[in-house]
Amino acid sequence: MIFESHAHYDDERFDRDRDTLLTKLLGGSICNIINVGASLEGTRASIALAEQYPQIYAAAGVHPSDTDQLNEQELAWLGEQTVHPKVAAVGEIGLDYYWDKEPDVQKRQRYWFAQQLKLAREAGLPVIIHSREAAEDTMQVMKSVHAEEIPGVIHCYSYSAELAKEYVKMGYYIGVGGVVTFKNARKLKETVVQTPLTRILLETDAPYLAPEPYRGKRNQSGYLTFVAEEIARLKQVSVEEVEETTCRNARELFRIL
Ligand code: NI
Repeated sequence: MIFESHAHYDDERFDRDRDTLLTKLLGGSICNIINVGASLEGTRASIALAEQYPQIYAAAGVHPSDTDQLNEQELAWLGEQTVHPKVAAVGEIGLDYYWDKEPDVQKRQRYWFAQQLKLAREAGLPVIIHSREAAEDTMQVMKSVHAEEIPGVIHCYSYSAELAKEYVKMGYYIGVGGVVTFKNARKLKETVVQTPLTRILLETDAPYLAPEPYRGKRNQSGYLTFVAEEIARLKQVSVEEVEETTCRNARELFRIL
């Protein structure tokens, strides 16, 4: 069984077949899904999906590129969501300097990243971290709030194998998805080789980042078999071992029995 640790099934690209697809996936090879909020709306929709499907859990959080919608009142609302029994994490939160280059915007991102990390600590929940072209500042914000005391995952990991080691030392998991199947993904393949399987989570980020041979198409959790196969090849273990170990990892992190 495969544990899908990061998907956005509330995305409009699933509007036409969401229920059919989720029923098929959860009745097949997928044991659980974390549907990740990327905005206030996305958090609301993720919780609604989690209430509808026993095997789906929600993450409550606002993506760095959407932090313009945050204020203290909305942060308090997010805090209220963390006590919902189906909310398993705070996320996705972090920094994205690829989309936002303005210093003021980046400063705002750092502020709300720190605030949401603190929220997770208060709620006793793990974090799902999104970090793109912001390696140094991400680490700096994390250290400033002692994030090594908060369990979590660096989702869609895109930095060096060296930095991954540091995250693992801090107790973090490394989220690996479709990108690992791309021929030119040398850095990520190296990270997978170096990172213990007990520290890797499988994720799609659906509808984005579909693996080969579906690259460019709408992604979905059923394609995680291609990701598991590539990780198995890189680590020279069986696909079953990849699926079982990463499933155990995710259940431990998100405290799902
Ligand atoms: Ni995502």
